[in-house]
Formats: sequence, structure tokens, C-alpha cells
Amino acid sequence: MIKRRFYIETYGCQMNIYDSGVISEILTGQGHEPADCAAEADLILINTCSVRDRAERKVLTRLSEISATKKGRPDLLLGVVGCMAQRLGKKLTETWMKIDLVVGPDSYDTLGGIITGLTVERDPVVETTQDSECMYAHRPKTFDSVSAFVTIMRGCDNFCSYCIVPYVRGRERSRPLGDIIKEIKHLVELGVKEATLLGQNVNSYRDGKTGFAGLLEAVDAVEGLERIRFTTSHPKDLAPGVIERIRDLPGVCEHLHLPLQSGSDRILASMNRGYSYGDYRRIVNLARSAIPGIAITTDIMVGFPGETRSDHEATLRAMEEIAFESAFMFKYSAREGTHAAGLTDDVEEAEKVARLGQVIELENSIIDTKKQALLGKEVEILVEGESRRESGFLIGRTRKNWLAKLPQKGVSKGEVVVAEVTGVTRWMISCDGSVRKAGA
Ligand code: SAH
Ligand code: SF4
Ligand code: F3S
Repeated sequence: MIKRRFYIETYGCQMNIYDSGVISEILTGQGHEPADCAAEADLILINTCSVRDRAERKVLTRLSEISATKKGRPDLLLGVVGCMAQRLGKKLTETWMKIDLVVGPDSYDTLGGIITGLTVERDPVVETTQDSECMYAHRPKTFDSVSAFVTIMRGCDNFCSYCIVPYVRGRERSRPLGDIIKEIKHLVELGVKEATLLGQNVNSYRDGKTGFAGLLEAVDAVEGLERIRFTTSHPKDLAPGVIERIRDLPGVCEHLHLPLQSGSDRILASMNRGYSYGDYRRIVNLARSAIPGIAITTDIMVGFPGETRSDHEATLRAMEEIAFESAFMFKYSAREGTHAAGLTDDVEEAEKVARLGQVIELENSIIDTKKQALLGKEVEILVEGESRRESGFLIGRTRKNWLAKLPQKGVSKGEVVVAEVTGVTRWMISCDGSVRKAGA
């Protein structure tokens, strides 16, 4: 058997980061070896995202770059995995680019076999069978980071009208509770202090009688795990029980990522989101009254088909009213095969750009105000490691997910400390003053 040195480049969301870990483990299990960089690899896998056209174009540029280098390196194998592999399948092998394998998210367990049999002379292998029961576990032998993603569900059944995810990721399914807990315990033994539970809609997690609130309890009971985060919470399914667990369970961070998308009820209906702005507001009020100061972050999309200026203003008003701690903001991108792709994409590109600029500007000013209010306050930080930008400094995150830096003296990676905020910028909190171990 030919042993390959593989390198995985990951695009897209946290699910893909998790899956790249799974793939890496599958390949190492088959005797292949990870390489430190693409230049040292003889198998490059690109783990891809299809959520917006731009995400796909970025990958296509990268694939053509690598394909071009294959002329000088005839032994190099190039593979596409992830959501674009699922969406485009065989089409990816029909361009000038030299792609040797295309494997979708439900077929990673076939990768070992495919790669073992693969040679540059062979026709490309395409494996995009969808399997609505497919689940992966991740049990790495070592783990560098103090924070780990743990996928608790795969797929999505919500079919928001703009979204490609249900098509490329298939039907929603939950991992068994016992598997998730075993995986987290294993990661804790490797030094992990924080687990971020992943699913497109974690609030619909279910294993027998256990729902998401029950899962949070079970994860919180894992000894040695300091923090629990989760994403994404779909507003239509957020149960009061989950808010109670955020309030009551010591490990669960006071942070809710709750994508709003739009402040206009007409647009929300057309997006098939299943809630109105009023419903959303009620959830936020419930969360904020139960957990004062809870961080609420969101996703906002501008320029959805039919979005008028007044719909857009409703989004700006909603953002102002709720004052999100942070937001991912996007321009609508039509995805072939989705329901919205059949609507007229009638907001002009220049107008989409302008609207995106407005939501970003508004969110930035909200963040600046929130940051200023932190000056002089104490925050709890989980130290993630040394700063790559500034030597002598460590980087970590507060419970509300603000990025923070603090001097290295007396503190090390993996520790939870309480520190005073002495400086803020839009993206960073600095804590140059007193620092003590949490609980001390
Ligand atoms: N499951 C999550 C979101 C996953 S996709 C949820 O329901 O909230 C992440 C974000 O990408 C979405 O929240 C949405 O804001 C954005 N997005 C998805 N499809 C898009 C599209 N076609 N064009 C622009 N943005 C899109
Ligand atoms: Fe896409 Fe909606 Fe599913 Fe999120 S919930 S992944 S936006 S279809
Ligand atoms: Fe994630 Fe992109 Fe796929 S957002 S699920 S990698 S389409």
C-alpha cells in the first residue's frame, strides 16, 4: 500500500473544521501521515463550503492554483470534500482542473479505501452517496487546543428558502448522547477545557427522551470540562428549558448565537424562518431577564429577494433595539435548487453592497459602545495560548466570547483566570492589570 502524506485545507463553518479532524483521523488510522503544509503533501484535500457563491469561488481559485502546480509534481493527488463536493460531484472532475477525488460529507469513511487505491493514472473517484444516518465520532490521539468543536447533529430539515445546507448536508440527525459524552471525556483527557457543541439547529437535538437541555446537563457533568458553548440556536425552537440551563449550569457560557436574518416579518416569512420579529424579541427578552448581561450574537442577511428599503430599515431598527454583541453579516447569494433561487433576485448589487455597509457600520458602533462599558470590569478568561502577534502575551476568550489578551506572567494555557479590563479595541480586550486564578 502506498502511504501518503496528506494535508487538509478547510473552508466554511465549524462543522467542516470538525469534519477535517474526522478525516485526518480516518487517514492516519489507515497508515497515511499528516504533512505540515500543502507543499510537503502528496495528497491535498480541500474541505469546502457552498453556502454563498463567494465561498465556492474562493475554493475554485485555490483548486486551479493547486491544479496548475500538478504539472511540475505529477505524483500529487488533489481531492475535494465537503459541501461543494456534494453539490457539484462529478462536475468538478469535468473541468480543465485535475481533481482526483470528490467525496461528500456522508462518505468520509470511504476515504481510506479510495485513497489507498488511488493513483494519478486512475480516473477520478466520485463518492457522493447521501446517507441520512451517517454520523462520525472524533477520537484523536492528541489535541493541541484547549477548545474543541463537538458535532452533536448533522444535516438540517429546516429548509430556509435561501439555504443550500439541507441539500448538501442531508436530513437532520442527532448523535447518541452516550457517544457525545464519551468523546468529550476523551477530549478532556487530552487537555480540552471548552467544548462547543455544533449543529445547524441544536435546539432540535434529540436522543430518545433527551432533548438539548438534557444534553447540556450531561455535558456539564463531565469532570474537568470548564466551559460549554453551542451553536446554532434556531429562534423557532429555543425552549425555555435551554435558557434555564444557561442560567443554572456553571459550565454553560452566557452566550446565545441566535441568527435573526432580517427584522422584517414579510422577509422572515419569505425566508421560511418560522418566527416573526416579535417572537424573536420575546426570546431575547426572556434570555436577558433570566441571565442579565447574556451575550446575544446573530447572523444578518441583506438583499434577500423582494427586500425593500423599508424592510432593510426594519433590520437596522431591530439591530439597534437588540444591540447584538456581535453579528455575522452577509449579502444574499442565490443558491441553485433552493426555493429562493426561483424568486427574482431584484435587489441590485450596488444596493446590496450599500445595505451590507450600513448593517456593518451600525454593528461596529454597537460593539464599540459595549466594549467601552467593559473598561474597569472583571472578566473570566479561558487562556487559549500565546498570542501570535505580540510576544509575551496570551490570548483567550471571556465567557461572553470576547477575544482577550493578557500578559504571560504567571499564567498558562488552559487556565481560567479573572482579570480586570484595562483597554479595549473593537476586536480585543486587554487585561494588563490584576489577574487571579478563577475561584482563588
Ligand atoms: N443553521 C444556521 C446557519 C447556517 S448558515 C441557522 O439557521 O442560523 C450561516 C449563515 O449563512 C446563515 O445564518 C445565513 O445568515 C447565511 N446564509 C445562508 N445561506 C445564505 C445565502 N444563500 N446567501 C447569503 N447568506 C446565507
Ligand atoms: Fe440553513 Fe436554515 Fe438549516 Fe440554518 S436552519 S442550515 S439557515 S436551512
Ligand atoms: Fe458549513 Fe458551508 Fe457546508 S456553512 S455546512 S461548510 S455549506
